[in-house]
Amino acid sequence: MESKILNRNSYNKNAKDWEEKFSLNNYTHSHIEKPAMLNILGDIKGKDIICIGCGSGEEANLLYERGANVVGFDISEELIKIAKQKYPNINFYVGDAEDFKLEEKFDVAFASFVAHYFPNYKQLLSNTSVLLKENGEFIFSIIHPIKRAMVKEIVGEKKYTILGNSKLTDGSLDTLYGDYLNSKEMKVKFSDGFKMIHYHTTIGEQIRDILDSDFEIIDFVEPKPTQSAKEEYPDKYEIDSKVPEVLIYHLRKKG
Ligand SMILES: C[S@@+](CC[C@H](N)C(=O)[O-])C[C@H]1O[C@@H](n2cnc3c(N)ncnc32)[C@H](O)[C@@H]1O
Repeated sequence: MESKILNRNSYNKNAKDWEEKFSLNNYTHSHIEKPAMLNILGDIKGKDIICIGCGSGEEANLLYERGANVVGFDISEELIKIAKQKYPNINFYVGDAEDFKLEEKFDVAFASFVAHYFPNYKQLLSNTSVLLKENGEFIFSIIHPIKRAMVKEIVGEKKYTILGNSKLTDGSLDTLYGDYLNSKEMKVKFSDGFKMIHYHTTIGEQIRDILDSDFEIIDFVEPKPTQSAKEEYPDKYEIDSKVPEVLIYHLRKKG
């Protein structure tokens, strides 16, 4: 898949930037997604966890510090180089989430903001199932598809982030903003030289892939920002406590 090569090259080229400016330092990670993911994980002392798309290793280390036996892998060789240097106690590998295999089987597979790199979840789900023990759990997060469906528009002096439409007073359509129902490839930019391809898919399509897989859904979480975000980032908090930013699936491998 062409997008896979493009994304891997982009993470390789920007590995240092990812480690320093994004990773756990990014607001969405630190104030919405990671706290929610860790909350779902609960007590992981002694559990065997595979961290899929582990980036430069910070989140694998968070799990390690909570007492789990952690293995991490990522498609980017340069990110894995950083992870190995920073966290020598953890085993890291280069691998693709759609076909990476190990002899060892895990209690939990954890994939933070990785699934939106795939146009559908079929191969990710079937490969992750092979990595897990019987009844193993798969917890993964994505940018919320409603957020993905919104567009940024400048109207007059205001910047809108919007999904919906405007109508004239006679009821006829004026302008349509955004598109939720049609899945699509999306060009995403973290900074000028840090670009990648994500995929927007609807929640219905995601659930269909899960229903067709070895997994059952045990929870579906749309987290709000933490209380500390309210103090540190009041504007973002105001928005993200009402408009969804992150979606998390908690799955269990069927026995
Ligand atoms: C947004 S980053 C998230 C990194 C880390 N999980 C975190 O939350 O800090 C997405 C990661 O997924 C990795 N990735 C993208 N496609 C992948 C694939 N097919 N297999 C494994 N990793 C992949 C990227 O290299 C990158 O490290």
